[in-house]
Amino acid sequence: MKKPKVSVLGIGYVGLCTAVGFASKGYDVVASTHDAEKAAKINKGVPPFHEPNLKKLLEETIQNGNLTCLINQTEKAVLETDLTFNAVGTPSKPDGSIDLQFIETSTRDIGQALNQKSKYHVVVIKSTVVPGTTQDLVKPILEKESKKKCGSGFGLCMNPEFLRQGSAFEDTMHTDRVVIGEYDRQSGDALETLYKDFYGENMPPTIRTTLSTAELIKYASNSMLATKISFINTMANLCEKISGADVKIVATAMGLDKRIGPLFLNAGIGYGGSCFPKDVKALIAHSKNLGYRLELLEAVESVNKAQPLKAVEFCKELLGNLKGKRVAILGLAFKADTDDMREARAIPIVNQLLEEGANVTAYDPVAVPIAKTIFKNKIRYAASATACLKNADCCILVTEWDELKKLKPEDFTRSMKQPVLIDGRRIYDPEEFSRKMKFTAIGLGH
Ligand code: UDX
Repeated sequence: MKKPKVSVLGIGYVGLCTAVGFASKGYDVVASTHDAEKAAKINKGVPPFHEPNLKKLLEETIQNGNLTCLINQTEKAVLETDLTFNAVGTPSKPDGSIDLQFIETSTRDIGQALNQKSKYHVVVIKSTVVPGTTQDLVKPILEKESKKKCGSGFGLCMNPEFLRQGSAFEDTMHTDRVVIGEYDRQSGDALETLYKDFYGENMPPTIRTTLSTAELIKYASNSMLATKISFINTMANLCEKISGADVKIVATAMGLDKRIGPLFLNAGIGYGGSCFPKDVKALIAHSKNLGYRLELLEAVESVNKAQPLKAVEFCKELLGNLKGKRVAILGLAFKADTDDMREARAIPIVNQLLEEGANVTAYDPVAVPIAKTIFKNKIRYAASATACLKNADCCILVTEWDELKKLKPEDFTRSMKQPVLIDGRRIYDPEEFSRKMKFTAIGLGH
């Protein structure tokens, strides 16, 4: 079977991993973005963000000509291919609801291209969009611009992705499930056939359903994971009031119950990133519009908002007034293996420390250039963890980088003015560290 040609609109984590994934398996892939700087990097084989295991395959696929990235040429991308994944961004508006402007403009461009095309083409929405968007917004725009009927004139699917930053490429190549929301059977068949060829023998379980169910599956999944995190964080906060209680052991034991499972029960300073905060907010706002208040998710969000500030509270309990105190921040990115600082827990922590008059020095293996655009010269940036700890009165561990997990109590005691450590991600052994320094951690009873 001749492989269909694939176009990808938007080259954020989802778009680029999808594009490189298909190109690495021999498909001809044309990507298109409005961002000329990013396109130039991609066409040189350089990923525009830090993501492990992407660089080599991006380089290879650009060199062998399987992947090209165009600037603002959606029509060309659609005309040259058989199927288009739309992976443009869907940011939040100030009220938390979803901003669909990029979906609207890109859909208009796709529709205009479909108008010039006689061959059947499938449009696949991969961006995270609130339930109803593909049916009620995307389909009418496509029909109006193409002057064709959805189903017979072109195909339409909604195909959410579940990739995690830091392992985005592996998650694209090996997913737990494929979800295909389809306008009609022919559209769903075309996408399922493509994935069967892509995954071969490793085709994961596939759910075929309606467009809006597929849209909700993405929000429900992210909301469930965010709920697990806020749940374990409330248990952590409770543990702190109970002598001898430790949330880490509670989570380990809970996780052995097959009905609960061990993942996403790491207590700490809360979740950040480009998905959980945005998606939980968007679902709350969407549901409110539909006349149903998502009280459970409102609580998930408010627990998460308060959680990072607990690290600063600990700091004040241990040091007293923070004015003029030197605080070392280890880790800035919203999680390990990424340089992304969107909704990073480091942001409220650093801002609160500055508010309290502390002098902040921070270290992160890759996120410093992005952090500089946020904190500017309000904080100092260290070139290593050891340099960051030098003469500090207190250290807050913010991001669970492997490199930071390897630090020993001596690394802190040797460099710091006062060896005081707050473990915001539960990566250190409380017994070992408490013996050698003043140590506290989220979810540790005293
Ligand atoms: C998430 C989902 O996992 C992914 O399926 C979806 O497609 C996009 O959103 P991502 O945001 O990349 O992926 O990171 P994830 O690993 O889920 O972590 C999100 C945040 O939760 C991070 O700040 C992380 O530190 C935090 N977290 C995660 C916890 O605090 N505790 C945990 O147990 C797990």
